[in-house]
Amino acid sequence: MNNSLPLIVANLKANKTWDQMSQWLDLVGPRSNSFPGTVVVCPSYAFLASSSQKVKVANWKLKLGSQDLSHFEQGAYTGEVTASQIADLVEYSIVGHSERRQNFDEDEISLGKKVENAKKVGIEPIYCIQSPDDRIPSDINIVAYEPFFAIGTGNPDTPQNIQKIARKVKETNKVQVIYGGSVSAENVNVFLLKDLVDGVLVGATNSLDPNKFIQILEAVSK
Ligand code: PGA
Repeated sequence: MNNSLPLIVANLKANKTWDQMSQWLDLVGPRSNSFPGTVVVCPSYAFLASSSQKVKVANWKLKLGSQDLSHFEQGAYTGEVTASQIADLVEYSIVGHSERRQNFDEDEISLGKKVENAKKVGIEPIYCIQSPDDRIPSDINIVAYEPFFAIGTGNPDTPQNIQKIARKVKETNKVQVIYGGSVSAENVNVFLLKDLVDGVLVGATNSLDPNKFIQILEAVSK
């Protein structure tokens, strides 16, 4: 992981069919090769194996992440997907997205187990917080600050506040901090600040359309 180059993460949430996902990869994959930083896409679990295969065959720089993983290691947990099952497919996993904390009652105990399970198999957690007061597990390298009011609303937090929070988080944690919430090609560069705000997490608003996501990559590359 290069700490000085931007990290741009697309969270596609529960969207797309495989055909649509495949077309998305065909457009974004080649663009990732010339991007001066790291581009990560987090598709549905359903498409991780086929996406990984496609990225490998095409030899794109694009990295894969999952949107979550189980807090169980393995066993009789119908419907769960464990860290070890996706370890060969992804390098990253989003952990603790506010949509999961809210809709699936995730708490700091289960999030801690998810981080532990990810780390055990070499997956890098992208740990989401909503405020600098949220507890961050000790072995985290990437924190995503994603205030609830900014997600999917077209109303991002201010660069000043994001920088203040990034500074606060970095005071006590040796981590990269990325920002998420209504990031677009038009505003992305006001958020990034070398050595302070290291990247962005782009949700459904501007990552589902591959062209909009590519525009973000173009804007950051300028
Ligand atoms: P948004 O979502 O970019 O659509 O605001 C951000 C997120 O959920 O990570």
